[in-house]
Amino acid sequence: MPEFLIEATEAVETWTIDGAARRNALSKAMVRELRGHVERVSSGRSVRAVVLTGAGDKAFCAGADLKERATMSEPEVREFLSAMRETFRSLEKSDCVFVAFINGAAFGGGTELSLCCDLRVAAPTAELGLTEVSLGIIPGAGGTQRLPRLIGLGAAKELILTARRVSATEALGLGLVNRVGTLDDARALAQQVCQNAPIAVGAAKHAIDEGAALGLDEALALEQRHYATTLGTADRLEGLAAFAQKRKPAFRGE
Ligand code: COA
Repeated sequence: MPEFLIEATEAVETWTIDGAARRNALSKAMVRELRGHVERVSSGRSVRAVVLTGAGDKAFCAGADLKERATMSEPEVREFLSAMRETFRSLEKSDCVFVAFINGAAFGGGTELSLCCDLRVAAPTAELGLTEVSLGIIPGAGGTQRLPRLIGLGAAKELILTARRVSATEALGLGLVNRVGTLDDARALAQQVCQNAPIAVGAAKHAIDEGAALGLDEALALEQRHYATTLGTADRLEGLAAFAQKRKPAFRGE
């Protein structure tokens, strides 16, 4: 059985984790399939943005599949964590833009999965949290690194060390989500991204992500390199022509 339901609307796909009965927890099969979908959209040009969500109205993703985890040996847990880290990283590094629609609980790996996405929209009933230390472990799929980069060291330490769960409204206040809304809002955000020039969107995404950990001089040089990738594109000329002719640009990703 596939772990994801896939729906396509023009350049936007919606991927729904199809495991409502286990609150869309991250199993080995689910991570493997996620990797396959990330590779598929990253190697093609037709899908430009993905909305990632969970089935049902209870959970976006309840983190690691704790029932499956209980059956794993220590080496198997290490192997699973490494597959999950690589998969999340490949999603983050993709030219595609990922929008998480957090439709309910997102705990542990569920919050970490949303942190790999470029944008996050939370349903009003959503709850987020890195709950790992309450289970005797620590966030293992990037949470200790991505959360502080997103919301700052102090707020991240509070959430991780207390394992506290936050509401959608609090998450919005912390900058942990971009907005509170519906699946349609998440899709509209993805569509809005797709109005823009694909090569420019990819270059801007990578400039922001890669520059976040650099000193300013190095980061500005990085921005210049990413800018350069847009200079020879037909889309840049189309942007200028459309502006001069007072019409909407028709970008082709070239
Ligand atoms: N792994 C595997 N199964 C999970 C799961 C997980 N992470 N989270 C929930 N489930 C299963 C439950 O065991 C239950 O299965 P059952 O019907 O066979 O008993 C089913 O999903 C429903 O869970 P339940 O807790 O009754 O649903 P709920 O809607 O009241 O609450 C959560 C949902 C996500 C808030 C709650 O299940 C929860 O807190 N889970 C743990 C989340 C967590 O700490 N994750 C971090 C992992 S590092």
